[in-house]
Amino acid sequence: MKPEPAAKTSTVPKVCVIGWPIKHSRSPLIHSYWLDQFKISGSYERAEVRPEEFADFVGNLARNGFVGANVTLPHKEAAFALCDIKTDLAARLEAVNTLWIEAGKLCGDNSDVAGFLGALDQDAPGGDVGLERAVILGAGGAARAIIAGLLLRSVKEIMLVNRTEARAEELAARFGPAVKAHGLADLPDLLGRAGLLVNTTSLGMTGQPMLDIDLETLPAQAVVNDIVYVPLETGLLHRARSRGLRVVGGLGMLLHQAVPGFEHWFGQRPKVSSELRTLIEADVMAKS
Ligand code: ATR
Repeated sequence: MKPEPAAKTSTVPKVCVIGWPIKHSRSPLIHSYWLDQFKISGSYERAEVRPEEFADFVGNLARNGFVGANVTLPHKEAAFALCDIKTDLAARLEAVNTLWIEAGKLCGDNSDVAGFLGALDQDAPGGDVGLERAVILGAGGAARAIIAGLLLRSVKEIMLVNRTEARAEELAARFGPAVKAHGLADLPDLLGRAGLLVNTTSLGMTGQPMLDIDLETLPAQAVVNDIVYVPLETGLLHRARSRGLRVVGGLGMLLHQAVPGFEHWFGQRPKVSSELRTLIEADVMAKS
């Protein structure tokens, strides 16, 4: 699709995060922090857009003064379909969460992969080095990005465990022989051989049922990563930490996925500092 040229009157670059619903998004807080830090006069706002209005909204991005956008649920696949140019990763995942406009073309990337890997590198450095086997719980969109990330890091076997095994099989088939599908009944045995466990389901999130799995069989050097960040420390992470395992919380993925977008739109590569993390943690604690 051909986005309209940018409105000539706008000098301050505007960006938004598009979702439905969107009021709980922390992305404006993250990007405003970096805009202040770099003293860039730009803005980042929320855009609550219904699925049936998404294509129009994106088609008019530039006309409405936006230089790009983040895209969140439920629009990531629709954003992919609308892009003129996609990064290889976005093409592989068929989902886009970062949009920008280059020479009048709508470009898209999937920075969830960079977000997942950035958090792993920051919170459990080296946790993926020489990793033979990882268990991923869940088979939705988040699992898709995490599989791609682990394959980039050459993990030899990815065991995809899902309540609905057929869904895990469908997802595994998109990635080839390194990814194998399992039902929940296999979990205790699989954990005994895993160096990394990642929860991509919503279980353990405030208001959702807890993720009730036994971590006793996980090897002592294993890393446990939960992409849920409300609460900041889920029951899964608490139990893993109590066992002395290294843990990676979900907030890191949210913070790190924001980095590539900021760099595209505003020309500076920001850092995920402890000050930024503390700011967002305070917001999560105040509103949950
Ligand atoms: P996303 O795209 O954000 O990853 P999703 O597509 O809704 O979210 O996927 C949610 C994942 O959580 C799914 O793997 C789902 O399992 P099913 O495919 O069997 O539905 C998993 N999930 C959600 N509630 C669950 C529960 N109570 N027990 C086990 N798995 C659950």
